Amino acid sequence: MQTRRSALQTIILAGVAGPSLLAGFPAVAEEVKSLKAAYKDDFVVGVAMNAAQIAGKDALGDSIIRAQFNSISPENCLKWENVHPEPGRYDFVVPDQYVAFGEKNGMFILGHNLVWHSQVPDWVFHDDKGDLLTRDALLARMQDHIRTVVGRYKGRIQSWDVVNEALNDDGSLRQSLWYKIIGDDYIAKAFQYAHDADPEAQLNYNDYSLVDESKRHGAVALVTKLKEQGIPVATVGMQGHYNLDWPSAELVDATISDFAKLGVKVAVSEFDIDVLPPATSQHTADVALNIKQNPTLNPYANGLPDRVQKQLAKRYGDLFDVFVKHRDVVNRVTFWGLTDADSWKNDWPVKGRTNYPLLFDRSGQPKLAYYAVIRAARK
Ligand code: G3I
Repeated sequence: MQTRRSALQTIILAGVAGPSLLAGFPAVAEEVKSLKAAYKDDFVVGVAMNAAQIAGKDALGDSIIRAQFNSISPENCLKWENVHPEPGRYDFVVPDQYVAFGEKNGMFILGHNLVWHSQVPDWVFHDDKGDLLTRDALLARMQDHIRTVVGRYKGRIQSWDVVNEALNDDGSLRQSLWYKIIGDDYIAKAFQYAHDADPEAQLNYNDYSLVDESKRHGAVALVTKLKEQGIPVATVGMQGHYNLDWPSAELVDATISDFAKLGVKVAVSEFDIDVLPPATSQHTADVALNIKQNPTLNPYANGLPDRVQKQLAKRYGDLFDVFVKHRDVVNRVTFWGLTDADSWKNDWPVKGRTNYPLLFDRSGQPKLAYYAVIRAARK
């Protein structure tokens, strides 16, 4: 097995030289040395950075990110509980490092996220006595947060996930405390505050399972309403937490077309493909889900069979074909993590599984799926 260093050299120095598994696949163009080079005329290719990568504690990971990607997202450091853990106390140490990394490497930098029902401390919604805030008080708190965080990185973070996961599976608005206290215009307010804080920033609505019919209709209705009100929503983030069987390429294709008709761009904002047996029949990325471990749910603890490796590669290739087809509307494809070892999918919805959802394996080697993605750009 190659070492991590030689794997990196494979990518950076030697260009794309397919592993033996590639046999049977059409030849990959040797001169294409990175994902960002492969898609330079189509869209930016991004990756979510974890704490170690941002802090410079994963030197190999950072080298791969620099070599392969031209956009970054913060996997966790800009979520409310991390950047604004207590009233009046912001912690910008890690976000500053994150933005510096992106600037140093000339990358398109994302902010994720401003308003979400999850990873937001309880105090945000309560006053000193523990009572729920009034609408006006919560709006003031939201505005302060957005103005402070977006304002700090004005002109430096180019795109913000302003509102994250506001929809239920049936397309109705989630009954979060944002919704219950402020009302359904909390979304419009959040976008307006973000726009006021940085008028140049590209503002996104971001959610999972938008391919599912009811939820897609809900998102279309939401974006339509925001646009009618003159709210500056620029991009819909289709998170893209998919698996080997779902959703079909046709469904992804149709969903992108539906959003394109609204006059917004589409970002595939959190892309990964789960290869493990589904632990739930729901199409969800709800972080609150926690299903009990069971060996039948973790069949590849000792390695991914070639058969599944090929299946994953084909799946990635098929979906990138769709993204390329829609290159006029798709402005970014971001992977939710760098290597299989980094992925949240090892611990969700079942803790402690061994998953293989990304393009780089646990030692940083490009997988067959990596070559399939490169190949999809060359058709
Ligand atoms: O902060 C602690 C750290 O101090 C401790 O050492 C570590 C040990 O387990 O846990 C750390 O926190 C974890 C954090 O990830 C960093 O690893 C949290 O418990 C864990 O809940 C958190 O999970 C993240 C999750 O969002 C919730 O914020 C995942 O990494 C992240 O991939 C996931 O990302 C979300 C998107 O933001 C929104 N869409 C769905 C997507 C997947 O759930």
